[in-house]
Amino acid sequence: MSNPSILILPGDGIGPEVMAEVRKIIGWFGDKRDIQFDVSEDLVGGSAYDAHGTPLHDDTMAKAQEVDAVLLGAVGGPKYDDLDFSVKPERGLLRLRKEMDLYSNLRPAQCFDALADFSSLKTDVVAGLDIMIVRELTSGVYFGEPRGIFEEGNERVGINTQRYTESEIERAARSAFELAMRRNKKLCSMEKANVMESGILWREVVTRVGAEYPEVELSHMYADNGAMQLVRWPKQFDVILTDNLFGDLLSDCAAMLTGSLGMLPSASLGAPMANGRPKALYEPVHGSAPDIAGQGKANPIACILSFAMALRYSFDQGAEADRLEKAVEKVLADGVRTADLLGEEGVTPVSTSEMGDAVIGALDASL
Ligand code: NAD
Ligand code: IPM
Ligand code: MN
Repeated sequence: MSNPSILILPGDGIGPEVMAEVRKIIGWFGDKRDIQFDVSEDLVGGSAYDAHGTPLHDDTMAKAQEVDAVLLGAVGGPKYDDLDFSVKPERGLLRLRKEMDLYSNLRPAQCFDALADFSSLKTDVVAGLDIMIVRELTSGVYFGEPRGIFEEGNERVGINTQRYTESEIERAARSAFELAMRRNKKLCSMEKANVMESGILWREVVTRVGAEYPEVELSHMYADNGAMQLVRWPKQFDVILTDNLFGDLLSDCAAMLTGSLGMLPSASLGAPMANGRPKALYEPVHGSAPDIAGQGKANPIACILSFAMALRYSFDQGAEADRLEKAVEKVLADGVRTADLLGEEGVTPVSTSEMGDAVIGALDASL
């Protein structure tokens, strides 16, 4: 039988820097655990635009459809700010999500003990935090029609449309309830049913799906209140289910509960493939961080933890995913810090690659 396949798309800015560390870790699992992958690499985002004039070449799209998992670094950057909207780096990522039909985006926010003091919130607010945001990823205002910039009288109008079908809400909700069943059986759905019809439908469908999961305690919250509650007392939540745009905002917000945006991984999952595993793309929640790109300062942990999610959700290697997550936890407990995590006086930051090496060291120690 052939090895499971991974397509690596490092992308732009710090994407290639953090992905280099994941490459080391993939190598470690091959050498030390005899878990081999067939790894190929390709371009996405600005780097693909530079090479091909498009942020995602059709051949890359086709490869992404065939592999067992895609790992993506980050896309975008100021160099591409003035490009036509249709070829902006971010369009490459959105095309991958849409054409792979990755409707369920899991964004776990976990506060490692070693970082509890470092969060911008009080220690007891975040210590022990472990929540999961499920963001619908293939619909909503990101993709709804009509959209565009149009002439209207003597001025222009910019239009995007929030649009959700019942089946789109239903499948995202189902994935969130399934996760809640495997966690603490608590799900809070966030929308703005007070001002948006799509929110009314969202609440109705989620409630209907919830009837199939009587063990899960379901609540609903307006998303603005949800944002406030997330920083007031985040431990009231277990699974949060929300739409594409609210999920984007709420997950960046949740990232700071863990200490840094450089800590938050994600898995974007679609329907099961022939092998029973979901179609999947794994990527850190952060972007290409142009302000620190090329300086060896980026925290690779979000990308490394995204690979841990791949081990768990795509490769049936839950125990090895635990091993990798524990290695990250140990490195942080040992006080190893990239610059984004520096709060303590007298601690010298490590570089991106030193952080990767430290995780490898902790993996070695786990054997
Ligand atoms: P960003 O996430 O790139 O950066 C926000 C801030 O967080 C910056 O100060 C950055 O230095 C810091 N940061 C982010 N990741 C870090 C890491 N791993 N280690 C240390 N610090 C980190 O968001 P932005 O600046 O708003 O966007 C920059 C570009 O990235 C834009 O083009 C945007 O569209 C794109 N973007 C891409 C993705 C993605 O590829 N999934 C996600 C978000 C933003
Ligand atoms: C994210 C990013 C993307 C989004 C962009 C880069 C398309 O912010 O993954 O959180 O808005 O979904
Ligand atoms: Mn985002």
